[in-house]
Amino acid sequence: MALEPFEIRPGRDDDRLPLAILFATIAEERDGIAAEPPVDVERRAARWNLDGMFVASAGDEIIGWIDVDRSYHGYGEIGMAIAREWRGRGVGSALLEAAIAWAHECGLHKLSLSVFPHNTAGIALYRKHGFVEEGRRAKQLRRANGQLWDLVDMGLLLSCQDVEP
Ligand SMILES: CC(C)(COP(=O)(O)OP(=O)(O)OC[C@H]1O[C@@H](n2cnc3c(N)ncnc32)[C@H](O)[C@@H]1OP(=O)(O)O)[C@@H](O)C(=O)NCCC(=O)NCCS
Repeated sequence: MALEPFEIRPGRDDDRLPLAILFATIAEERDGIAAEPPVDVERRAARWNLDGMFVASAGDEIIGWIDVDRSYHGYGEIGMAIAREWRGRGVGSALLEAAIAWAHECGLHKLSLSVFPHNTAGIALYRKHGFVEEGRRAKQLRRANGQLWDLVDMGLLLSCQDVEP
Protein backbone atom coordinates (compact mmCIF):
# COMPACT_ATOMS: atom_id res chain seq x y z
CA MET A 1 0.00 0.00 0.00
CA ALA A 2 1.41 3.38 -0.98
CA LEU A 3 1.90 5.70 1.97
CA GLU A 4 -0.16 8.86 1.88
CA PRO A 5 1.99 11.97 2.08
CA PHE A 6 2.04 14.08 5.20
CA GLU A 7 3.61 17.43 5.97
CA ILE A 8 5.07 18.99 9.06
CA ARG A 9 4.45 22.70 9.68
CA PRO A 10 4.15 25.14 12.57
CA GLY A 11 0.79 25.13 14.32
CA ARG A 12 -1.72 27.85 13.39
CA ASP A 13 -4.70 29.35 15.11
CA ASP A 14 -7.17 27.37 12.99
CA ASP A 15 -5.50 24.11 14.12
CA ARG A 16 -6.71 24.63 17.70
CA LEU A 17 -10.03 22.82 17.44
CA PRO A 18 -8.87 19.85 15.30
CA LEU A 19 -5.89 19.47 17.64
CA ALA A 20 -8.18 19.44 20.67
CA ILE A 21 -10.42 16.82 19.02
CA LEU A 22 -7.37 14.65 18.27
CA PHE A 23 -6.17 15.16 21.86
CA ALA A 24 -9.57 14.00 23.18
CA THR A 25 -9.52 10.93 20.90
CA ILE A 26 -6.05 9.91 22.09
CA ALA A 27 -7.02 10.58 25.73
CA GLU A 28 -9.72 7.91 25.26
CA GLU A 29 -6.95 5.32 24.80
CA ARG A 30 -5.98 5.98 28.46
CA ASP A 31 -2.52 4.69 27.65
CA GLY A 32 0.04 7.02 26.02
CA ILE A 33 -0.73 10.57 27.16
CA ALA A 34 -1.51 11.61 30.71
CA ALA A 35 -4.94 13.06 29.93
CA GLU A 36 -8.02 10.86 30.28
CA PRO A 37 -11.67 11.51 29.42
CA PRO A 38 -13.59 13.66 29.79
CA VAL A 39 -11.65 16.29 27.84
CA ASP A 40 -13.25 19.73 27.60
CA VAL A 41 -12.51 20.21 23.89
CA GLU A 42 -13.31 23.94 23.77
CA ARG A 43 -11.10 24.62 26.78
CA ARG A 44 -8.30 22.45 25.40
CA ALA A 45 -8.52 24.28 22.05
CA ALA A 46 -8.09 27.64 23.78
CA ARG A 47 -5.13 26.45 25.85
CA TRP A 48 -2.65 25.40 23.11
CA ASN A 49 0.46 27.51 23.09
CA LEU A 50 1.34 27.82 19.40
CA ASP A 51 4.90 28.97 20.14
CA GLY A 52 6.85 25.70 19.78
CA MET A 53 3.91 23.79 18.29
CA PHE A 54 4.33 21.72 15.12
CA VAL A 55 1.56 19.73 13.49
CA ALA A 56 1.55 16.87 11.02
CA SER A 57 -1.20 17.13 8.43
CA ALA A 58 -2.40 14.91 5.62
CA GLY A 59 -4.73 16.69 3.24
CA ASP A 60 -7.09 18.68 5.46
CA GLU A 61 -6.60 16.42 8.45
CA ILE A 62 -4.40 17.01 11.51
CA ILE A 63 -2.77 13.65 12.25
CA GLY A 64 -0.30 14.53 14.99
CA TRP A 65 1.41 17.24 16.96
CA ILE A 66 4.42 18.04 19.06
CA ASP A 67 4.57 20.99 21.42
CA VAL A 68 7.61 22.34 23.19
CA ASP A 69 6.84 24.28 26.33
CA ARG A 70 9.77 26.69 26.56
CA SER A 71 10.82 27.44 30.14
CA TYR A 72 12.56 30.57 31.37
CA HIS A 73 15.46 28.34 32.44
CA GLY A 74 16.66 27.37 28.97
CA TYR A 75 15.01 24.00 28.49
CA GLY A 76 11.85 22.88 26.69
CA GLU A 77 9.33 20.26 27.79
CA ILE A 78 7.85 18.11 25.03
CA GLY A 79 4.39 16.64 24.57
CA MET A 80 3.34 14.76 21.44
CA ALA A 81 0.95 12.25 19.94
CA ILE A 82 0.02 10.77 16.58
CA ALA A 83 -3.43 9.60 15.42
CA ARG A 84 -3.60 5.84 15.92
CA GLU A 85 -4.00 4.97 12.21
CA TRP A 86 -0.89 7.00 11.35
CA ARG A 87 1.50 5.47 13.87
CA GLY A 88 4.55 3.57 12.71
CA ARG A 89 4.89 5.63 9.50
CA GLY A 90 7.58 8.08 10.52
CA VAL A 91 5.26 10.92 11.59
CA GLY A 92 6.56 10.95 15.18
CA SER A 93 10.16 11.05 13.99
CA ALA A 94 9.44 13.90 11.57
CA LEU A 95 7.73 15.94 14.30
CA LEU A 96 10.52 15.28 16.80
CA GLU A 97 13.16 16.34 14.25
CA ALA A 98 11.24 19.59 13.63
CA ALA A 99 11.05 20.26 17.37
CA ILE A 100 14.75 19.55 17.90
CA ALA A 101 15.70 21.88 15.02
CA TRP A 102 13.41 24.60 16.43
CA ALA A 103 14.93 24.17 19.91
CA HIS A 104 18.43 24.62 18.45
CA GLU A 105 17.28 27.78 16.63
CA CYS A 106 15.82 29.16 19.87
CA GLY A 107 19.05 28.48 21.74
CA LEU A 108 17.49 26.02 24.19
CA HIS A 109 20.17 23.92 25.88
CA LYS A 110 17.96 20.89 26.58
CA LEU A 111 14.73 19.10 25.75
CA SER A 112 12.93 17.07 28.41
CA LEU A 113 9.88 14.84 28.54
CA SER A 114 8.08 12.31 30.68
CA VAL A 115 6.80 9.00 29.37
CA PHE A 116 4.99 6.04 30.89
CA PRO A 117 7.37 3.06 31.38
CA HIS A 118 5.06 0.76 29.37
CA ASN A 119 5.17 3.11 26.34
CA THR A 120 7.70 1.10 24.36
CA ALA A 121 6.98 2.96 21.10
CA GLY A 122 7.53 6.33 22.76
CA ILE A 123 10.70 5.31 24.59
CA ALA A 124 12.14 3.76 21.40
CA LEU A 125 11.31 6.92 19.42
CA TYR A 126 12.99 9.17 21.97
CA ARG A 127 16.07 6.94 22.30
CA LYS A 128 16.40 6.85 18.51
CA HIS A 129 16.67 10.64 18.55
CA GLY A 130 19.28 10.72 21.31
CA PHE A 131 17.18 11.13 24.46
CA VAL A 132 18.47 9.28 27.52
CA GLU A 133 16.65 8.14 30.61
CA GLU A 134 17.39 10.40 33.54
CA GLY A 135 15.18 9.03 36.26
CA ARG A 136 11.90 7.57 37.24
CA ARG A 137 9.17 9.11 39.37
CA ALA A 138 7.42 6.30 41.22
CA LYS A 139 3.61 6.27 41.40
CA GLN A 140 3.54 9.84 40.07
CA LEU A 141 0.18 9.96 38.28
CA ARG A 142 -3.14 8.83 39.72
CA ARG A 143 -5.27 7.40 36.93
CA ALA A 144 -9.05 7.55 36.74
CA ASN A 145 -9.19 3.85 37.72
CA GLY A 146 -7.22 4.59 40.89
CA GLN A 147 -3.93 3.07 39.69
CA LEU A 148 -0.71 5.00 40.38
CA TRP A 149 1.59 5.05 37.35
CA ASP A 150 5.32 5.74 37.25
CA LEU A 151 6.83 8.30 34.90
CA VAL A 152 10.21 7.95 33.19
CA ASP A 153 12.01 11.26 32.67
CA MET A 154 14.11 11.55 29.50
CA GLY A 155 16.32 14.34 28.27
CA LEU A 156 18.32 15.45 25.26
CA LEU A 157 21.20 17.87 25.78
CA LEU A 158 21.49 20.26 22.84
CA SER A 159 24.34 22.37 24.09
CA CYS A 160 26.82 21.49 26.80
CA GLN A 161 28.19 24.99 27.23
CA ASP A 162 28.42 25.65 30.93
CA VAL A 163 29.74 28.64 32.79
CA GLU A 164 31.74 28.38 36.01
CA PRO A 165 29.75 29.78 38.93
C1 LIG B 1 4.85 7.27 20.59
C2 LIG B 1 4.41 7.81 19.24
C3 LIG B 1 4.43 9.35 19.30
C4 LIG B 1 5.40 7.35 18.15
O1 LIG B 1 5.06 8.00 16.92
P1 LIG B 1 5.12 7.21 15.52
O2 LIG B 1 4.74 8.16 14.45
O3 LIG B 1 4.33 5.97 15.61
O4 LIG B 1 6.67 6.85 15.44
P2 LIG B 1 7.53 6.64 14.09
O5 LIG B 1 6.73 5.87 13.08
O6 LIG B 1 8.10 7.94 13.65
O7 LIG B 1 8.69 5.70 14.63
C5 LIG B 1 9.94 6.23 15.02
C6 LIG B 1 10.68 5.21 15.84
O8 LIG B 1 9.96 4.96 17.04
C7 LIG B 1 10.10 3.58 17.39
N1 LIG B 1 8.76 2.95 17.34
C8 LIG B 1 7.63 3.44 16.78
N2 LIG B 1 6.61 2.60 16.99
C9 LIG B 1 7.11 1.57 17.70
C10 LIG B 1 6.53 0.39 18.26
N3 LIG B 1 5.22 0.12 18.12
N4 LIG B 1 7.33 -0.44 18.96
C11 LIG B 1 8.64 -0.17 19.14
N5 LIG B 1 9.24 0.94 18.62
C12 LIG B 1 8.48 1.79 17.92
C13 LIG B 1 11.05 2.98 16.38
O9 LIG B 1 12.37 3.16 16.88
C14 LIG B 1 10.84 3.87 15.18
O10 LIG B 1 11.94 3.89 14.33
P3 LIG B 1 12.05 2.83 13.10
O11 LIG B 1 10.82 3.01 12.30
O12 LIG B 1 13.29 3.25 12.40
O13 LIG B 1 12.13 1.48 13.75
C15 LIG B 1 3.00 7.28 18.86
O14 LIG B 1 3.00 5.89 19.02
C16 LIG B 1 1.86 7.85 19.69
O15 LIG B 1 1.35 8.91 19.40
N6 LIG B 1 1.42 7.12 20.73
C17 LIG B 1 0.28 7.53 21.58
C18 LIG B 1 0.53 8.82 22.33
C19 LIG B 1 1.85 8.80 23.03
O16 LIG B 1 2.28 7.79 23.56
N7 LIG B 1 2.50 9.98 23.05
C20 LIG B 1 3.80 10.12 23.69
C21 LIG B 1 3.61 10.43 25.14
S1 LIG B 1 5.19 10.57 25.99
